[in-house]
Amino acid sequence: MVQMVDTDRAAQMRKALVAQLRDQGKILSDTVEQAFLRVPREGFMPADTDLAVVYGYDKPVVTKRDAQDQAMSSVSAAYIQAAMLELAQLRPGMRVLEVGSGGLNAAYIAEVVGPEGRVVSIDIDPEVIDRAATALDATGYSIRVRVLVADAEHGVPDEAPFDAIIVTVGAWNIAPAWLHQLQPDGLLVVPLIMNYVTRVIGFRRNGDHLISTATEIAGFVPMQGEGSRPHKHIELTDATGCKVTLSFDSGAPSDPAQLDGVLTAGTAESWSGITIGHGVSFADLHLWLAWFLNGFCRLSAEQGTDLTAKERWLPFAAVRGAGLAYLMLRDVPQDDAAEFGVRAYGGDAKLAAAALTEQVQAWYRAGRHTVPTFTYWPTGSDHSRLHADAKVMDKTNGTIVISWPALVAADSPSGDH
Ligand SMILES: C[S@@+](CC[C@H](N)C(=O)[O-])C[C@H]1O[C@@H](n2cnc3c(N)ncnc32)[C@H](O)[C@@H]1O
Repeated sequence: MVQMVDTDRAAQMRKALVAQLRDQGKILSDTVEQAFLRVPREGFMPADTDLAVVYGYDKPVVTKRDAQDQAMSSVSAAYIQAAMLELAQLRPGMRVLEVGSGGLNAAYIAEVVGPEGRVVSIDIDPEVIDRAATALDATGYSIRVRVLVADAEHGVPDEAPFDAIIVTVGAWNIAPAWLHQLQPDGLLVVPLIMNYVTRVIGFRRNGDHLISTATEIAGFVPMQGEGSRPHKHIELTDATGCKVTLSFDSGAPSDPAQLDGVLTAGTAESWSGITIGHGVSFADLHLWLAWFLNGFCRLSAEQGTDLTAKERWLPFAAVRGAGLAYLMLRDVPQDDAAEFGVRAYGGDAKLAAAALTEQVQAWYRAGRHTVPTFTYWPTGSDHSRLHADAKVMDKTNGTIVISWPALVAADSPSGDH
C-alpha cells in the first residue's frame, strides 16, 4: 500500500476527476465534492496502480480473485462511489454502515458525515479488512471509521440504527437485518440483482417497506456468505465443439434434457425493425427482458464459437421448450444505427425467436426513454396497497415490484414470470 507518489500530479488528477464527476452528474453536492477532493485515492490502491487508473472515472481496480479468476474484491470505480454517496443522501452527523469494505469509500463517507457522524465498514474477508485498516491508518482516517469482519447478512446490530446503509457488493436478496437496522426514514443503497441484471437502487424506508428514489447502472462482485445465491448452469456444445453456457438466476427449465443438441438443430433468424443509435445505451432493454421474458438467461461462449459469424451477439437469451434464442445486433449504416435481431436454435426455434422479438418490441413501445421505479415489500409487510396487476419478483425475504411509467398507459407485455 505504501508507495512513492507524485503528490502534485495526484492532486491535479483528483481535481480533474471531480470536475468530470460533476459534469456527468455523479457528484451533485458540495459535501461529496469536498470528500473527493480531500481523500487521496492512491492511498487505498495496490502500490503499483498507475495514477491514470487510480483517478479514472470508470475504472474499478480488482484486489482479489478466486481460483476461477472471478473478481472477489475490488476498489469500486470513482463514478459509482460518487453516485452511491449521493443516492444515500448523506449529511453531516449521520450514522452510516458500509457493507463490503476496502477503506476508500469509508474515508469518503467519513469526510461527508464529519466528526459528529459515525462510519462502520464491514467485510466478510479478514484480508480485506486488514488492508482497509492499514490504508485508513496510513491516510489518517482510522479514528473516524470502525472496520470489522462480519457477514452482510447480519449487519452490525450493536451499532444500529443507521441513517444510511450502503451495500457495495452484488445482492440478490435484501437481508432483513438491513431493514431492521435502518432508521424509519433511512436510506438503503444496494446493487440489487434481478434475474441476472443489476441496478444500484437508492431506497428510502417508508415504514414497513422501501421506495426507490433513483437508480444507477453498475456491476459488482458477488455476495459471499449466507446471502450468496447459487446459479443454475446448462452447458451446451455448438457445431464447432465450443462450449456454450446458459446461466439462470431463476426460472431454469425443468427439463434441460430438451436442450440436448439444440445448437446443432434447426435455426431461425429474425430482425425486429427496432434500431438503436451508435453509442446510445440500451441497458434498460436488459432489465426489461430480465423482468418480462420467460426463460431469460445469460449466455456465454468459448472463444471461437460459431454462434454468430457476422453480427454482434449479446449475452442475453431465452429458452422456450426445445428452443433457444439469443439477441444480436447488425449495423444499419444508412441510419448510423444498429438493429436488434434474434437467432434461435432447436425444435422450438421459431417459438423462442418470436418470444424474444416480441419483448424487444414491447420494450421499444413502452420501456425506452422512461425510468422504472421499484418498491420492496418485506415478508410480513402490509401488501394491501399493492396493485393487483403489479409486476413482482420474489426474493428470499420479500417481494420487489417494478413500475415502468409507460406501462400504465401501454399494453401490458405478455411475459408472465
Ligand atoms: C466491491 S468490494 C467493496 C469496495 C469498497 N466498498 C470500495 O468502495 O472500495 C466488495 C466487497 O464485498 C465483500 N463481501 C462479499 N460478500 C460479503 C458479505 N456477505 N459480507 C460482507 N462483505 C462481503 C468482498 O469481500 C469485497 O471486499
